[in-house]
Amino acid sequence: MKNIKTIQLGQDGPHVSKLGLGCMRMSSIWGSPTPDETESIATIHEALDSGINFLNTGDFYGAGHNEMLIGKAIKGRRDDAFISVKFGAIFHNGQWLGMDLRPLAIKNFINYSLTRLGIETIDLYQPSRMDNSVPVEDIIGTIADLVKEGKVRHIGVSEITADQLRKANSIHPISALEIGYSLADRQTESELLPTARELGIGIVAFANTAEGLLSGDMKAPLAVDDYRNHFSRFQGENLVNNLRKVEVLKQVAASKGCTPTQLAIAWVNAQGDLVMPLVSMSRRSRLPENIAAMDIEFTPEEMNILNTTFAPGAILGGTYLER
Ligand SMILES: NC(=O)c1ccc[n+]([C@@H]2O[C@H](COP(=O)([O-])OP(=O)(O)OC[C@H]3O[C@@H](n4cnc5c(N)ncnc54)[C@H](OP(=O)(O)O)[C@@H]3O)[C@@H](O)[C@H]2O)c1
Repeated sequence: MKNIKTIQLGQDGPHVSKLGLGCMRMSSIWGSPTPDETESIATIHEALDSGINFLNTGDFYGAGHNEMLIGKAIKGRRDDAFISVKFGAIFHNGQWLGMDLRPLAIKNFINYSLTRLGIETIDLYQPSRMDNSVPVEDIIGTIADLVKEGKVRHIGVSEITADQLRKANSIHPISALEIGYSLADRQTESELLPTARELGIGIVAFANTAEGLLSGDMKAPLAVDDYRNHFSRFQGENLVNNLRKVEVLKQVAASKGCTPTQLAIAWVNAQGDLVMPLVSMSRRSRLPENIAAMDIEFTPEEMNILNTTFAPGAILGGTYLER
């Protein structure tokens, strides 16, 4: 079954599946236990068999565990996969300490990633944030050197401002912008996304479900040990208000015979040919539902209801990007 549409990342850039597989939750994050590795690898295999070739990881996901897992999964089928790697975030004991994007550090990180993945070239290599202590020229220039060396094919960026994106693209063509984007996080629509579109840069949109908020399964209050309690949109009255909005999503989904998660993914997909929904799936059972979401179309009225209910600012509490 190879029925996934494709998307071009950047002008003259690579063609990859329009639905991306986010692998982050296949490793321990924020102190959670490591998910079932056999199921994770089976999920990657089934995704590749289905035509989803865009696999997204970060060298800090599970402190290298995620790259090693992907390395195992793509052994013997390297050509089926397009590997996107983020780097530069420094964690210690599960706490984010900051970014390290010094040229010397980047040249170190890449070799460890290549070894863990068991490959010779990373298809898309991207700093996970900018490091304000290092000029954008030096960051992108260093990755451009890695392109010349054959260790990297294409350059991406993530969680960046419109000005930084323009600057980065003037140094070396940027293929993709990885950014949190969903019905619950639309603040980037005013400046960043138009800039990416103007420059022809692919928009790899993650957190389509806003960490489960839009899945339709969430109830207030969250369990006391839920990591999302740290974020104000999941707290107290904010969560109660936000789940009221999700009721509208649930109603539209029910009227279309799909699930709220499918609708949340379909809305991201409907934002245009340059936009890829990048969805976390750690089990095979997620794949048929999320692949089917890519075929959902909206009437103008349905789109209007969703865009109005989830207008920028409608979701109370801090945005994903404000963390
Ligand atoms: N650049 C960045 O700063 C950044 C930050 C965060 C994430 N990312 C990337 O983006 C990817 C996606 O981000 P995310 O995990 O935050 O958001 P997400 O794709 O919205 O996933 C959140 C949760 O939704 C669940 N899910 C998937 N399909 C579902 C379905 N059909 N019904 C109900 N639940 C479903 C997943 O569960 P299961 O895991 O149990 O399948 C996952 O736990 C990550 O894997 C990572 O590669 C990038």
